[in-house]
Amino acid sequence: MKICVFGAGYVGLVAAACFAESGNNVITVDVDQAKIEGLKQGIIPIYEPGLKELVIRNQSEGRLSFTTDIEAAVKASLISFIAVGTPPGEDGSADLQYVLAVGRSIGQHMQGYKIIVDKSTVPVGTADKVRAAVQAELDSRGVGFEFDVVSNPEFLKEGAAIDDFMKPDRVVIGTDNVRTAEIMKELYEPFMRKHNRMIIMDIRSAEMTKYAANAMLATRISFMNQIANLCERMNADVAAVREGIGSDSRIGYDFLFPGPGYGGSCFPKDVKALIRTADECGYEMLLLNAVEEVNELQKHVLARKVLDLLGDSGADKPLAGKTVACWGLSFKPRTDDMREAPSLTIIEELLANGAQVRAHDPEAIKEARKTFGDRISYSTNQYEILSGADALVIITDWSEYRNPDFERIMADLKEPLIVDGRNLYKPDRMQLAGFRYIPLGRNGSGISAGGK
Ligand code: NAI
Repeated sequence: MKICVFGAGYVGLVAAACFAESGNNVITVDVDQAKIEGLKQGIIPIYEPGLKELVIRNQSEGRLSFTTDIEAAVKASLISFIAVGTPPGEDGSADLQYVLAVGRSIGQHMQGYKIIVDKSTVPVGTADKVRAAVQAELDSRGVGFEFDVVSNPEFLKEGAAIDDFMKPDRVVIGTDNVRTAEIMKELYEPFMRKHNRMIIMDIRSAEMTKYAANAMLATRISFMNQIANLCERMNADVAAVREGIGSDSRIGYDFLFPGPGYGGSCFPKDVKALIRTADECGYEMLLLNAVEEVNELQKHVLARKVLDLLGDSGADKPLAGKTVACWGLSFKPRTDDMREAPSLTIIEELLANGAQVRAHDPEAIKEARKTFGDRISYSTNQYEILSGADALVIITDWSEYRNPDFERIMADLKEPLIVDGRNLYKPDRMQLAGFRYIPLGRNGSGISAGGK
């Protein structure tokens, strides 16, 4: 099929490459000239495992191309995917300006029947707005081409995006038109080799499904973070509690790990947007208000632990003279995405309290520099930042942190203090090795948290 994808970001680029991989002819359009020029030369603007190989192969085989020429892309394709950003506006609602701009562009240039697919995460009712934007352009051109608007929210996870797209748990297609549903089914058929996991529904339900999924996952995270905080105060072990509840098939094990709060480009903004959508129709999402509040508080937990353990409570800057090494900057492993990363809050709080901060991340240093500049130091060697540091704080669970050289950590740190925001290690082993190890919600594992 002939497809064009608007937006060469995390979602658009992955979708474009995967559709090309399954034999389609895909044109990727972006308004960012530098990004498109880079992509033409095989320079991938983001870090996503496997993406570079996929882009280069499909480009060289002629199925995938990149352009800023909107007109040519629209004219050459039957299906146009909208995969541009929907950042939060000032009031938390999704800002639809980029989505609607694409709708207008399509209306300006289409020459015949088109299927327009909202892949961006958009509030219920957006398909109607896109339809109106396209129709307004057709009216002003005085032409009457037919088109359908489909909602096809994307569920891929950064860090595993290619796999998620190629072997999805499900593909949700919201449409009010049988013919369009058939075309969309045909497009996604190659990704359903093991199971048919296509769920066809009405447009508004499809739009809601994406928000409901992200809100549910965010809720699990905030819930478990509160259980961990309570375990700490009650001398229970959250890891044991997770086993105990996850084994219930109605609950399951996933998304029950405590951590430094959720971040990234989706959960924070999608929870906010759903709260706003509800507000607009006079309904209050009480549960999601709490999910958000818990998450904001959770982002401070690691820095608070460092303050309790190392800080001079009488001093103006309680961490003055202390050096804190941080492992992990990106909001999760296998991505360079720093949007709403908990590290941003944690490091700002350490700095505000006078600490010197050194950070390691395998991929996100370039992105982190945009926020922190020279206020912290960086290394791509995870051990280099430890020398003489008063504590190591683990923020992101990159795989290289899971089984590190503990002897080297012990030798390099000034104090053998590890504050672990991802519960990567066994508390009893860490104690035996001589560390003062502070995980989340695991005092009940027999290890004292120290401090307050
Ligand atoms: P992104 O910010 O990485 O990429 C968006 C791209 O769209 C940018 O390259 C931008 O230059 C381009 N763009 C803006 N206006 C344009 C226009 N008029 N024409 C062509 N290109 C234009 O965004 P990302 O992360 O890919 O997200 C896109 C959408 O997908 C959002 O609604 C997001 O919520 C949703 N989503 C994101 C996921 C993720 O893991 N990042 C997962 C699932 C959904």
